[in-house]
Order: sequence, then structure tokens, then C-alpha cells
Amino acid sequence: MVEHLVADGELTDPRLRAALLRVPREVLLPHAYVRVSGPGADPIDWRLLDGSHPDDRAEWLDLVHSGDSVLLQRNGEPLSGLGRGPVTGGHMTSMSTCTPATVEALQRLGLEPGQRFLDLGTGPGITLALAAAVTGPGHATGVEADPHMSAFARRNLGRLDLGAEVVEGDALDGHATGAPYDRIHSGIGVSCLPPAWPAQLAPGGRLLTTLTTRTPSWPGQLSVTRTPKGGLRALLQGRPRGCRPLLGYRWLTAVDHRDRVRADPGRPRPTRLAPPADDAHGFWVAAAYLAPGLVRDFQAGAMTIVAPREDSWAVAGPGAGTVRVHGPRDVWAELEDLHDRWDRAGRPDTYHVEMPDGDGPQHVTSGTGRKALAWTLPPHAAVPRRSSSPARRGSPDSLQEGTP
Ligand SMILES: C[S@@+](CC[C@H](N)C(=O)[O-])C[C@H]1O[C@@H](n2cnc3c(N)ncnc32)[C@H](O)[C@@H]1O
Repeated sequence: MVEHLVADGELTDPRLRAALLRVPREVLLPHAYVRVSGPGADPIDWRLLDGSHPDDRAEWLDLVHSGDSVLLQRNGEPLSGLGRGPVTGGHMTSMSTCTPATVEALQRLGLEPGQRFLDLGTGPGITLALAAAVTGPGHATGVEADPHMSAFARRNLGRLDLGAEVVEGDALDGHATGAPYDRIHSGIGVSCLPPAWPAQLAPGGRLLTTLTTRTPSWPGQLSVTRTPKGGLRALLQGRPRGCRPLLGYRWLTAVDHRDRVRADPGRPRPTRLAPPADDAHGFWVAAAYLAPGLVRDFQAGAMTIVAPREDSWAVAGPGAGTVRVHGPRDVWAELEDLHDRWDRAGRPDTYHVEMPDGDGPQHVTSGTGRKALAWTLPPHAAVPRRSSSPARRGSPDSLQEGTP
């Protein structure tokens, strides 16, 4: 896994490489769920691999070292005494992050020995363990809301002797006891930056989190730096993958519409907009806010974008210059219009976020002037705090943690 990450150019930091080789991830991921059902199934069939069972061992080791997200917990269940084999129902509430996403995040944070590190939404503690292997013992702390998962991570990490601490709590509060931190990483997506996080960031410190919107398709990554003089500088970039939102957050999904879109892609009409490239991240992250409530079906052949609440969709093609649209909301017209505005704004890739210390609206802008794109990050209010309720029916459980 490490050789692949190096060969793909994803892993460049020698300290992180050493940490990846040092941390035995199989200790932190002693079992793994494998999804048996296809997308959209309800209830979902799973198979639990027990790493200590000789019949599961080879498959489990492959999975643990594949770099993919490893699924660990259904509906906040207790994690001791899980039985191996088939099981039906439930939704995943905890898993490891896929390794390329963890590597990207830790490298962006530029972690160094001796720095104080806080990991929010620690799950099984892979990110925390890697960070602790870099910072050294007694410097890395993780916060996990689920009591079973926090006990599980604490127990497993204890076997590695890395000196990493796990506390049970709500990530939105950070962890004031150990503040200030030189580096803060969030393993969960949030709608805007919780005020506790920058408040716990040391001068010169850096923080990284996924910004979540109702659509899982176009995640944004927010990076915040506290300047040596105490101010905050915050940048938002669209990314191909991101962390799942905090427990209780409800994503939109295109899965429930898949069969109907296939059967009736909609009425064809000419369009001036060719399907924007997947890596036009600056456009897509703006779409998550300025054309809200849309979700892409990444499994469809032609670009398919659904507005589930308005029962509307758009399917690119057939051929260049044509799009098929269905329903009362003209999804494609909104994207055409937004793409024109993104063009006029200079095709921004990175956005500045005005970050007040404490509560207050967090404004995003691509620059100054009339042509700039601008929006305000939605507040947290809609998310129940410390809820371990399962994801709703039809939520995109087929998605890996760390992928859109
Ligand atoms: C995907 S896991 C993190 C995985 C971790 N980065 C790794 O690779 O080991 C996200 C975790 O965040 C936890 N979580 C969700 N909402 C939370 C909250 N409000 N406070 C603390 N933890 C939360 C979930 O229980 C889950 O275990």
C-alpha cells in the first residue's frame, strides 16, 4: 500500500511514509464489514470479516492494506463480541478514511515532531495513530462521539504504544483541555467552521476540514491558518473526495431516482454547456452552494444530475450540444448560468472565507468586484448534536469514506 502511494505520487512526506510503515493498521481495524448488496438495496446485506479467524484472514488483510475505507460499525452498535459472517440491515456509522485522503490531509497539515495535534471524529484512530507516530507520544488527541467507537479506538491504540489519547465527546466542541493545538484535523464534514475550533488553534497553527453541503457530490476542503499575529486566514477548495458529515447529518441521494432516470432521461433540448470536467473542482464546489440541492449519480454513463426534492433531473447528451431535462426544476439551466458566472469570475479554483473569531456569518468569495462569486456558509443548526441515529433510508452507504 505504501509503495503504491509513493509510486502514484500521493505520498511525498518521508515522516508520514515512516509513520505508515510503523503503524500496524490491522491492530486498529481488527474486523471489517463487506457490503454484499448492490446500490440502493434496503435492507442492506453485509458480511463481517473477523481478522482473527483463519477463514477470513487473507481477505481481511487484503482489505485492511488496500487503502480503501474499512467499514466497522453499524448504527452505533457495541463493538465487542461481533459475530463473523452474514448480517442484514443497518447503516454504517463508522469506518476508517481511505488512505489517499488521510495522506493528503496530513501532508497538507505539514505535521512535525513535537507539535500538538487534535483529531476530531477519530473513529478507529488511523489518522490519529499516524499523526502520533509523527508528533511523538503525549502530543496527539482524538475526540469521538460514539461511546463504543471511542472505547474501541482507545483499547486498540493502547496496544501500539504511540502515546495517543482518545476522549469521548462532541467534535463540535473541540477539546479545550489540551488547547492550543498546532494542527487540527477533522475526520468529519461540517457545514461551517465551529467557533471552538479556531479558538483552540495556536498562533501559526493550521486546521483542515471537509465542508459538507446537502449534496455529497462536490465536497470542499477548508484550510484555516492562525497567523502569528492572531488573525485567521481561511481558504476553500473543491476536492475530488471528502470526509462524511458528522453523525445525524442528512445527505441527498440520487439512488432513489436511478431507475426512473434510466427509463425516462427527459426532454432533449440544445445546450451551450458541455458537461463540465470532473476536475473543474472550483466550479463544482460553487455549484454545491449556488445551485443547492443537486446531487450527481456518478454511476450513470452520461453526466446525470438530480434535484431529488423537486423530482427533477438533467442527463447530458445524446451527442454534443444536447441535454435531456425532466421535471419542474431546470437543473441544467442553473448549471449553464452558474458556469457563465464562474467563467466571468475567472474560473476560480480557490475561494477566500471571511472567518470571524467566535460566532458570525462565514462569507465565501472568489475575489473582489462585481463579477466575483460569493455566498455564505450555512449555519450548523440543522444537525442534531451527539446523535448516533442511523443514516436515513437511501443514504449513499455505497460511498467510501473519503470519496465523493
Ligand atoms: C470516518 S470516521 C474517522 C476515521 C478516521 N479518520 C480514521 O481513518 O481512522 C468518522 C468518525 O466521526 C465520528 N463522529 C461523527 N460525528 C461526530 C461528532 N459530532 N463528534 C465526534 N465524533 C463524531 C463517527 O462516530 C465516526 O467514528
